Amino acid sequence: MAEFPFATVTANELSFAERDERYRRLHDWPGRAYRHASGLRMIWKYDDVREVLDAGSPAITPANALEPLVGYPRIAATPGAIPHLVRHLLPLPAKATADLTDRRLHKQVWDTMAGPAGHFRIPAADRPRQAAAMTAHFHAALRELPAGTTELDVTALSIAYATRVTGSAVGLPEREWQRVAVWSGAQSGLLGRRMRGRELSDAVAALGQLFTVSGRAVDHNLRSGTVGFATRLRDAGIPRRVAVSAVANSLAAGVHTVSGSIQQGVQRLLSDPGRVWWELLTDPATAGQVAAKILQLDPGLVAWKRRVLRPVTLAGGTELPAGPVLVMFAAANRDPAAFPDCLSLRRPGKMPLTFGFGAHICPGKQSATLAVEVFLHQLRMLLPQARLVAAAPGSRRDPDLLFSGAAVRVTGDRRL
Ligand code: HEM
Repeated sequence: MAEFPFATVTANELSFAERDERYRRLHDWPGRAYRHASGLRMIWKYDDVREVLDAGSPAITPANALEPLVGYPRIAATPGAIPHLVRHLLPLPAKATADLTDRRLHKQVWDTMAGPAGHFRIPAADRPRQAAAMTAHFHAALRELPAGTTELDVTALSIAYATRVTGSAVGLPEREWQRVAVWSGAQSGLLGRRMRGRELSDAVAALGQLFTVSGRAVDHNLRSGTVGFATRLRDAGIPRRVAVSAVANSLAAGVHTVSGSIQQGVQRLLSDPGRVWWELLTDPATAGQVAAKILQLDPGLVAWKRRVLRPVTLAGGTELPAGPVLVMFAAANRDPAAFPDCLSLRRPGKMPLTFGFGAHICPGKQSATLAVEVFLHQLRMLLPQARLVAAAPGSRRDPDLLFSGAAVRVTGDRRL
């Protein structure tokens, strides 16, 4: 029997073309679940993924969603990590979002983020203002890159941009924005990568700083009375410890998800010899369709965790034993049973599961979608003739079960 397509590689290590091929083979695979060497059981069929993300059955919980992939015992056994744990992460941060199982408190926090008057929600009338603010972030991030070259590091630009968009959305002071990418990278890495030694202790340090700075930002915003995320959380009656985690979780969640989607999207758009989707970016009406398609096919976050508490049989017949599950929603977004022609812009299929499903659905969905659209549109307007610069031979990204991006450099028709 052929090897399982994601037994030894992750989406993050592949080009978009290799990913297309592996996902196609995945949906031809005879089984519906696979026990990965990490101990996580992988699932990828659209209906299974939706049901497990929804976690509607008491046998399925999101409680492990933010657990580090290497487990807490490995962190506790890493001497370099302990001072950072003690300094920044004790007492342990409160649960506020993805791993919070207290349904009432979770709903309170989620509604403050994305309910009808939620902080991250973008009403249609406010879309032009938000798009203009994101455009300003694009150009500010561009000015921070080395000037006078003909090559543009899209990966660096997308990270600087997503950092600004997310940092400003949660009310982090501007002087801290630059470091958000490092903290967010640490959180993402802890979730999806098998870190050890120095890398692991550095990630714990960065995660700790994320919580410390989030606490400072909440206190500062409450003292100054600036209306924003912190005051909304307070006005909703959410305790400070939970509010700090809501800020930290949102900061960690927004950067590599948005920037990874942009990086992989640019790689796909510029690899098409006809550059059909690239040209559609010129018109805001069709740019939105392209951004939505990129988020379906190439999201910066490809999977999320759940835990099965006792053996369950899903509605479609998939049997899952007790244990942790890797819910591969980017793969589900290509399930032919839900998307007859997933690579076509004209045949949309079901609702992609990029932003999750159910009570924990991503509260940053609207903001992230607009952020990807604005970036791609701005890049197309800046460098209409952009071409991909070939990657250095042998360069490969780290294995990562959750996050996915691409090292993308482009060269344009003018000096930047
Ligand atoms: C392309 C970008 C993004 C993708 C693909 C993405 C994806 C997701 C997914 C799949 C979940 C569900 C987790 C679960 O079911 O437990 C989630 C949750 C979350 N996302 Fe996003 N996200 C993105 C951007 C953002 C942004 C920009 C923010 C903040 C402004 C954000 C904040 C959050 C938070 C706080 C949660 C936890 C929600 C909860 O458990 O109640 N995300 N995201």
